[in-house]
Amino acid sequence: MTERIVVGAALLDDGRLLAARRSAPAELAGRWELPGGKVEPGERPEDALVRELREELGVDAALVERIPGRWPLREPYVLQVWTARLLPGSAAPRPLEDHDALRWLPAAEVWDVDWLDQDVPAVRAAVTRLGAERPGT
Ligand code: CDP
Repeated sequence: MTERIVVGAALLDDGRLLAARRSAPAELAGRWELPGGKVEPGERPEDALVRELREELGVDAALVERIPGRWPLREPYVLQVWTARLLPGSAAPRPLEDHDALRWLPAAEVWDVDWLDQDVPAVRAAVTRLGAERPGT
């Protein structure tokens, strides 16, 4: 079967990482993830991720860099992750679809939430970029 890409965003702001709690499906509800979703046929993954962030969170975001790695989900899906930041003038993120809670996590709190297993390596990589992102440091 042809592989399908799922894109996720490590959205960084002021030294914090955004975590989103899934509300569905039942087997994933209550677990935390990097917001994102499936790339549509013919769509660039980067464009898909900006679109998903607008749909799911109501934000205007720019991607910063790809986090190296690709993590298998249930077939045929494979997760790829980018760091991202809010564009000036963007609304604050709100859980519009798929999620029932959002948290901005400083580095010290990143592991306080129950991340989806497949997101953990990308979250670990994103944490190393938190300090670098904070203005003035
Ligand atoms: O919104 P859309 O239907 O495009 O995709 P989704 O339901 O948000 O995500 C598609 C699949 O990727 C689901 O099975 C999610 O659990 C998985 N996923 C993930 O494992 N990690 C993420 N950070 C985002 C999605």
